[in-house]
Amino acid sequence: MSTAPTRRLRTTTTTHEDDDDTPAETPKSQTSSHARTAVWRAVAVLTLVLAIFACYTLAPKIRAGGAQRTVSRAELARHDGKDGRPIWLSVGGEVFDVSDGAKHYGPGGGYSFFAATDGTRAYITGEFEKEINDNIDDFTDEQCLGVVDWAKFYHETYKFVGVLAGGAFFDNSGTPTARRVSLLSRADSAKAAQALAKEQEKQFPACSSRWTQQDGGTVWCDAGEYPRRIDKPSAPGGVVAERCACFSDVGVNDQRRLYDGCAPHSSKCSTSKPKTNV
Ligand code: HEM
Repeated sequence: MSTAPTRRLRTTTTTHEDDDDTPAETPKSQTSSHARTAVWRAVAVLTLVLAIFACYTLAPKIRAGGAQRTVSRAELARHDGKDGRPIWLSVGGEVFDVSDGAKHYGPGGGYSFFAATDGTRAYITGEFEKEINDNIDDFTDEQCLGVVDWAKFYHETYKFVGVLAGGAFFDNSGTPTARRVSLLSRADSAKAAQALAKEQEKQFPACSSRWTQQDGGTVWCDAGEYPRRIDKPSAPGGVVAERCACFSDVGVNDQRRLYDGCAPHSSKCSTSKPKTNV
């Protein structure tokens, strides 16, 4: 390995290579030098290929929480804040020490039901009596993002302990389950859709809107702009919602739809009927 780089260095620093009093390399030593360079190149390429392969195959698992301290359900259950014990809880399979938040999670605290268990579902549904469990199978992408945001809050506010083994999100050896990988990727999709919606909002400003019992719903734009119904970007497979946006041309197409009963050149449209008392 040393021959070729030395030789190259010398050629870059010496302007009159022919005047060099070092004996020139023989064809045989050149051949072996080339062979060694080729071997090192091959090793470098192989290392690079292996590194790329490892990144692609392991990165999602590491991001999902692989290779970390595992906490068993029994161990988590013991950390309930009773008799001065520390308080742990789990969200999305990540376990946090929330002893510093004893006023919330300790015995008698307003959120004590989250202690010593994985209550991921209730963080989103708010069903604190019936749904302190880790079942998120019916969650939308947005709800998955909600879970990830809660975990982010705990990472930022409390101490991370490890991952809950044998639950919905990590198997007995602490390897992320398909559910955990899906939770993160769906949260990513929701985040991307939110970013897209924000961009779209900048591009097509929202209409003004009002609802009164007397008039029902109304949307309107500044003079010279026209209200149209457009889809809000959503994650693939997510619920397609629509909103009102103002356009400076009267054009209508599949993406820019008219409100029922509203003329194309009107800058004010009714969206729902007045509520009449029966
Ligand atoms: C899905 C619904 C909800 C969930 C999952 C939830 C969860 C939580 C959690 C985990 C905490 C403790 C945060 C910490 O460790 O610092 C907290 C604090 C708090 N929550 Fe909620 N909450 C929900 C709804 C509400 C609602 C509807 C209200 C008000 C009407 C509310 C009022 C509060 C207040 C005031 C605190 C702070 C208490 C303090 O600092 O002493 N929460 N919430």
